[in-house]
Amino acid sequence: MNLKDLELEAIKQIKSVESMHELNEVKALYLGKKSKLQSIMATMKDLSVEEKKDLGVRINEFKTKIEELVAKQRTFLENKEVEDRINKEAIDITLPGKKFSEGNLHPLTLVSQDIEDIFIGMGYKVEEGPEVESDLYNFEMLNLPVGHPAREMQDSFYINPSYLLRTHTSPVQVRTLLKEKGNPVKIICPGKVYRRDDDDATHSHQFMQIEGLVVGENITMSDLKGTLLTISKNLFGEEREIRLRPSFFPFTEPSVEVDVSCFKCGKTGCSLCKQTGWIEILGAGMVHPNVLDMAGYDSKKYTGFAFGMGIERIAMLKYGIDDIRNFYINDTRFLKQF
Ligand code: PHE
Repeated sequence: MNLKDLELEAIKQIKSVESMHELNEVKALYLGKKSKLQSIMATMKDLSVEEKKDLGVRINEFKTKIEELVAKQRTFLENKEVEDRINKEAIDITLPGKKFSEGNLHPLTLVSQDIEDIFIGMGYKVEEGPEVESDLYNFEMLNLPVGHPAREMQDSFYINPSYLLRTHTSPVQVRTLLKEKGNPVKIICPGKVYRRDDDDATHSHQFMQIEGLVVGENITMSDLKGTLLTISKNLFGEEREIRLRPSFFPFTEPSVEVDVSCFKCGKTGCSLCKQTGWIEILGAGMVHPNVLDMAGYDSKKYTGFAFGMGIERIAMLKYGIDDIRNFYINDTRFLKQF
């Protein structure tokens, strides 16, 4: 076979190759150790010097040509492969996406944030405290010494004799007063609290409170009343009134239980307000001088008020929820309504 014919045959084959593997095989067939070219080269020894030179040049031209063609075909095949893959893997961006179900804030978080917003608007700072609290801050420095009968109002989970799960957010009053070292204070503190209780529709061993504390010069009961009226109107509607009933907390004197006029019947009496026209929403009072003194505030110069409300209770009233356990069982059919 002569070189010209071999070249034509090679060109035809290379161009018809459809895969890299085939291309390598074809390349070996024309340029490799056992190629047809080798058999042509084997004839060299019988040729004259002139003829050898001539054949050598043509063989080199043949090799270059074939190598170029193989390279060209390789690029062609590579491009084709990428193109095929792109076509195969093409994403139809006009298809509708998969629905991703987005969660929402927990109703207790929502109510808590609502209440925080109202107080922040009145210039309050938001404080936080630990849920594992010392007996000292949870009771003693709130005027509830060891053995005080009022401790029994808040049956507790003790970690050891001096630490417990806080039974209310009031220890944050003590913490804030100690931190502020005699300066005026105006804070709220939202958070979880714990009491040993049998869970039922209205009781839970874990629940949330928002504490409020204002301490300064000339802070009076009327400031407390105005604040409570503002928050009640904000939460339950502009027409609401409040009513203070005498009560007892060791850390406030005088102490009050605060009722809001029923937002369902407008005070005429219904099942929500148990026909009384009023609904109890929180406890409050003027900070007991002992609490101020123990925290290093001069109770002759400073006075203050404090209040504590249950967030669950507010949320249940606001949304008409009749079982407190709904807040904790993670039933999305309940949670996604808010
Ligand atoms: N800490 C009280 C409770 O949990 C509520 C309260 C707070 C009352 C502040 C008066 C002042 O019952």
